Order: sequence, then C-alpha cells, then structure tokens
Amino acid sequence: MKKIVISNRVYYIGTNDRKKSLFENNWPLPFGVSSNSYLIADQKSALIDTLEFGSKDDYLEVIESILDGKDLDYLIVNHMEPDHSSMIGWIQKRYPSVKIVTNNKAFKMLNAFYGVKSESIYEVKDGDVLDLGYHKLKFVMTPWVHWPETMMTYDTTDGILFSCDAFGSFGTLDGGIFDDEINFSFYEDEMRRYYSNIVGKYSHMVQKAFAKLSGTDIRCIAPSHGPVWRSNPSKALELYNRWSLHESEEGVVIVFASMYGNTERMADYVARLISERGVKNIRIYDVSKTHVSFILNDIWKYKSVILGSSAYNSGMHPMMLHLCNELEVLNPKFKKYALFGSFSWSGGGLKSLETFAANMEWSQVAPPVELMGSPDETKMAGFAEIASNII
Ligand code: FEO
Repeated sequence: MKKIVISNRVYYIGTNDRKKSLFENNWPLPFGVSSNSYLIADQKSALIDTLEFGSKDDYLEVIESILDGKDLDYLIVNHMEPDHSSMIGWIQKRYPSVKIVTNNKAFKMLNAFYGVKSESIYEVKDGDVLDLGYHKLKFVMTPWVHWPETMMTYDTTDGILFSCDAFGSFGTLDGGIFDDEINFSFYEDEMRRYYSNIVGKYSHMVQKAFAKLSGTDIRCIAPSHGPVWRSNPSKALELYNRWSLHESEEGVVIVFASMYGNTERMADYVARLISERGVKNIRIYDVSKTHVSFILNDIWKYKSVILGSSAYNSGMHPMMLHLCNELEVLNPKFKKYALFGSFSWSGGGLKSLETFAANMEWSQVAPPVELMGSPDETKMAGFAEIASNII
C-alpha cells in the first residue's frame, strides 16, 4: 500500500469498513465508515489511537514498514471506545516496551478492557507536552467528546489536531483521504448524522472543548473517522460550532407513525399547507420505515419538527416512542414544534406525545390536531394555524 503522508513524518493509517451494517450495533452504515489511526515516525515514534480489532489485517505490517525496523515508543490513547482501542493488546504484544500515553480517566478502562498494567502507562495532564524530536505534542483534555476520558492531541510543530471522534464522519474514504480530494457535499450529511447520533448529546462539552482550543493555530484536523481536513479545517470547526450551538436551517421535518394510513394522510395534508406558504425544505418520514438515525440527522439540521402518531395501547405508537426516547437522550434544542394524532376510541397517542414534548426545550407553535377515525377537511382545520406558524 502507498504511504499516506499528512505532514513531515506524520502518516495516516486508516481503514474502511464496508461490511459492518450498524455502528455501535445501532446506527446504520449505508456508506460504511472509516477508522483513522496516525503514526508519527520522529526521533521518538508515536502511534495515535489504534483501530477496531479485525478491521485492517495488515495494520501491524504497515506500522512496521513506516518505522523501518525501529521500536514504537508511544501509543497515545485519545479515546477508549473499542473502535479506536481494541488493537492496544496487539500493539503491546508486538512492541512490549511501548508506553501508553493517556490521562488518568482512561486507566481503569485500559485495565478493564485490555489488562493494561500501570507500569505501561505514561500519564499526561491537560496542557502537558510530549517531545518526539521534531514534533511536540500537547494534550488537551476534552471530556465527553465522546466519553469521559476523551482527550485530543495537538501537534504544536505542524498545527495538526488529532481530534478523535470530534469532526468525524460516517462514510468510507473512497480514494480521497483529504478534504481537498473529496466532494464534501456527500460527507456533510454523513458528518452531521455522525454528530447528531453520536456526539450531539454532549454538545455543551463540545462548546467547552472549543473554548479550550480557542487561539490554537489549527492548520489540519485529523479525526478518527472521515476525511482529514488539511486545506480548510475552519470549515469543520464552523460546522461543529454551529451544530453544537443547536443552530439550524429553515425547514420542517414531519414524522408520523401510522397503522392504516389515516395519520399519514394528516402528515401529507399539513406538508402541503406548509409548501403552499413557500417552504421548500420539507421532509416527511414514516418512523416505522426510516431508521431514527436519519430522522435525527434531519431534526438536527432543520428548525421545525411536527410529530404525529396514531394511538396504540393508549399511548403513542411504539416506533414513535423509540424516536422520542432518542430525542430525549440526544436532546436537540430550540426547535419549533407541533403535534398531531389520530385514534379509534379513546386516544392516548397525542397525549403521550405532549408529555414527551413538555420535557424538551422546544416551543409549540399552535394547538395540536387530533381526530377520530379517518381525516376530512373539517377535522383537519387546525393544521392551518400549524402551517402558518411553523416557520
Ligand atoms: Fe469512534 Fe467514541 O468512538
């Protein structure tokens, strides 16, 4: 394989997973996912994070080839989630004297996951610098972006931020590794989906990380998933800042759960009314058909949300409940919202949607619409107010 050079003595050693169906056995991967590891072959060498075990058969050979017979001095563990850490044992086996560089929050996990003993660990604290010769690495503690032990490694020499999950993306790297080698319009959606599904819950911690990094001369961002930002890292910073501040675009996401089509007709009806008011970004999702991963992505993207459910066992439909549970966990903020529902005898779907919505930091734009049986123009009159206020 060709060596992929990030900068002077810094190499990309990543892999593309096109086999796995679900990331974390939860989030769909229709376009796969890349995992990125980096090797700095300086006077002292440092590997920055590993890969998921089994994802790259020749991983150790590539490292050996770049090190050209020398020992590996350091393995920097920015994050312990096993998609980045599960080759640690193999690295230790191949390089028994390697020092594992990480912060104290990772110690217990290192031992619990891989049996790593304290004598193998080189503890670093916020702001500590590791001198490799030419490269000087500074460690920035960024807890909860994405786990409590997460940190970033900043190469003060070449301005490279090894950011781990932050600024990462779903989607494999199909030849192009760097932002100037790819069509970003494909990755933007997958990057936001990664953000909304994986990191978004910790948006306030992303903002804390931003505050810590302010004033840092970031010339390249090398994340652990997705493209390496060597040409325009400020684009990645800008997107992450916007998403973590819960800033959104004008548009409406309408999600329905319908058993026999009546609730779906309500969704179509309100969508048409909104369209007649000139709104172009309208997405309708059947929550029983589309995985919540994609719906959450669009909810993060757009300002307005309309949720509708048929009654089911006196509550909302179970598939809508799944979406609402994820929304409560991931907590997208500052949405304008409206609700609707249908029922066959005493209802309960709309009521449980109202209970959910009351727990969110969202603002309701109009009273909900609820109807019994099948819809008609009279029963749906309330949608006019929703359509006029939702944007
Ligand atoms: Fe890509 Fe939180 O691991």
